[in-house]
Amino acid sequence: MKHQLYKNKNVFITGHTGFKGSWLAMWLHSIGANVTGYSLKPDELSHFNLLNLPIKNYFEDINDEATLTKAIKESKPDIIFHLAAQPLVRDSYDDPITTYNTNVIGTLKVYMAAMKNNVGALVSITTDKVYENNEWHWGYRENDQLGGHDPYSSSKACVELMTDSFRKSFLGDFKMYLATARAGNVIGGGDWAKDRLIPDLVRNASQDKTTPIRNPKSVRPWQHVLEPLHGYLMLGEKLLEKDKSFCTSFNFGPESHDVASVDEMVALSKQSWPQVDAKFTVDPDQKHEAGLLKLDITKAREQLKWKPVWQSSQATAMTINWYKDFYKNKKISTQQNLEEFIALL
Ligand SMILES: NC(=O)c1ccc[n+]([C@@H]2O[C@H](COP(=O)([O-])OP(=O)(O)OC[C@H]3O[C@@H](n4cnc5c(N)ncnc54)[C@H](O)[C@@H]3O)[C@@H](O)[C@H]2O)c1
Repeated sequence: MKHQLYKNKNVFITGHTGFKGSWLAMWLHSIGANVTGYSLKPDELSHFNLLNLPIKNYFEDINDEATLTKAIKESKPDIIFHLAAQPLVRDSYDDPITTYNTNVIGTLKVYMAAMKNNVGALVSITTDKVYENNEWHWGYRENDQLGGHDPYSSSKACVELMTDSFRKSFLGDFKMYLATARAGNVIGGGDWAKDRLIPDLVRNASQDKTTPIRNPKSVRPWQHVLEPLHGYLMLGEKLLEKDKSFCTSFNFGPESHDVASVDEMVALSKQSWPQVDAKFTVDPDQKHEAGLLKLDITKAREQLKWKPVWQSSQATAMTINWYKDFYKNKKISTQQNLEEFIALL
């Protein structure tokens, strides 16, 4: 069994009611970690509610410093995985203030509360969108220039800068082992966020509707959610083992040849569920989104010995079948997906 270091460890997850956070909470719980989650209340239809995990929950705001500090104090975490964020590009155009407030100031509050409570390790989740996007064909490396056209991407680039400053200013003697993780477009069962490709496709397929697609030629590094989570867990282990060389940033993404455009993802989805249907439409309110985005994963591969397990075609099939089982048979395949993934590690 992988990741046994987490057995009986106190693990605090922010954003555990979200898509990635709920998968992470489930994985850690299945290893035998004592999981505490801190997030806003989930929507009625959420992967978190469907899993019904017997873990401790705080349904609170990370910007409420006093409550956050108290929650961390009470749960005495060995490690924190910080995933809470406003993660949607289009929402960040509508509400940049909440986006920066949650993603930058909220993250700083998580770091401060962790430091005050002598937490030993923290993995902070940013995104592949932290890089200044040059629309080039090479994958971005961890030392490439940070940037971000839209407020979401920019807010996460700010988190990277803020993390670097926090480490240098407050963690000089490695009081807390802090790293950031940058992952690509993640797919998997249980994501119902709006304006994301797979959730839009399956929601519409379940009602025999066609999905309007904004950017069919956009290329993204798609990966199953378990891939970056495996990377976050490996990174967390190095921090728990107090290895200073991991207090830095890591990309997690597919192999460089394994990227796909939106219309290729639609075609792959259709292979698993023929009801999936999409039509290219021009959005009169179209906001800028990056066209081409690839990540270089050499650092994670060489330093962390992490590598992707499933190709994007397999990840898409797993994902679409998860939703098909859910909509047609009310079956939740999360545990089964995890077991199939772990068997390949
Ligand atoms: N899903 C992806 O493809 C993707 C890609 C790159 C990076 N990420 C990053 O991964 C993390 C998780 O993303 P996700 O897709 O699971 O998002 P999600 O929207 O499904 O979940 C977000 C979580 O953050 C919590 N949250 C939001 N604002 C909060 C606040 N003020 N206080 C407390 N909790 C708050 C929500 O309650 C929820 O639990 C985010 O940091 C996101 O930026 C996601």
